[in-house]
Amino acid sequence: MTWLITGGAGYIGAHVVHAMTEAGERVVVYDDLSTGISERVPRDVPVVVGSTLDGDRVARILAEHDVTGVVHLAAKKQVGESVDLPLHYYRENVEGLRVLLEAVTAAGVGAFVFSSSAAVYGMPDVNLVTEETPCVPMSPYGETKLAGEWLVRATGRATGLSTASLRYFNVAGAASPELADLGVSNLVPMVFEQLTEHAPPRIFGDDYPTPDGTCIRDYIHVADLAEAHVAAARALSSSSGSSGSSGSSGSPGRDLTLNIGRGEGVSVREMIDTINAVTGYDTPPTVTSRRPGDPARVVASVDRVARELGWKARRDLHDMITSAWQGWLHHHPEAAHT
Ligand code: WQD
Repeated sequence: MTWLITGGAGYIGAHVVHAMTEAGERVVVYDDLSTGISERVPRDVPVVVGSTLDGDRVARILAEHDVTGVVHLAAKKQVGESVDLPLHYYRENVEGLRVLLEAVTAAGVGAFVFSSSAAVYGMPDVNLVTEETPCVPMSPYGETKLAGEWLVRATGRATGLSTASLRYFNVAGAASPELADLGVSNLVPMVFEQLTEHAPPRIFGDDYPTPDGTCIRDYIHVADLAEAHVAAARALSSSSGSSGSSGSSGSPGRDLTLNIGRGEGVSVREMIDTINAVTGYDTPPTVTSRRPGDPARVVASVDRVARELGWKARRDLHDMITSAWQGWLHHHPEAAHT
């Protein structure tokens, strides 16, 4: 079976490519390289440069490579940017997915893994977020991920395509320094950047209703997340036949929606303490005002993914931060602390 991995040159996508090839799967990467970097992809994996909005191109690639499954990660993912550019986000994330699904079902591909996000939940008011927790996204980005799930599920029901939507919680770390996240839009790289500039890490608000007053999230190592994709892909391929755009495909495919986290809450202050310990910087944080739209606590229930895929995260917070720091040093050697 050959898997097309869209967005396979991105931070998470490249980790998925490595995990899939290490597990013995044949893969082809499809990426527009708007933020992806082709050097992240192993040399023996073909990289096709293109957009999922180009349906004819996708159709040709599916046929040329005999693709039987797709893992779709190509998307825009900046929450703040999505507020300013909603039409761009809907076009890239929803229209790009719709066009891709059209080609996928026309080609009779059997399995489709969709990269979703905990952003679909918005501001959940529960201790552990289950997949049944109501989805009330707070940003156009989160809306596009929720709409994407609907599109994927509806297509599966109509055509027999086996589908899985994986709701990622807060992703960090790197399997190797070259694969590190180059974006500076999440807590871990933002703290690294402050330390590198000899500035204090910032805590966006310490008056939340949590034990230390700072926000709590569920951080997951990107290598664990990548392994969850392998598990999902295999579960779908063992149950999939092939989809048909006519809606006449006999047997229904699988339809999974799964939280991918560790099920463990860590506060911003605990994260910064661990980062300080790992990096040796030991710079006390400064508290600034709250960032609008931040929920106090978002932690996954991971029972369903354990039950459905037999998957569980193996790496801890220390692994995550140590590997993220190695990756940061690889790209910012000036950050080395002497
Ligand atoms: C984590 C916590 C910040 C930086 C976002 C998206 C989500 C998903 C993952 C894509 C928050 C606090 C941060 C800093 C801080 N993306 N913080 N000081 O907001 O939980 O999730 O990324 O799917 O959809 O919303 O992640 O890493 O930005 O923030 O105090 O310098 O760290 O306020 O509480 P978030 P984050």
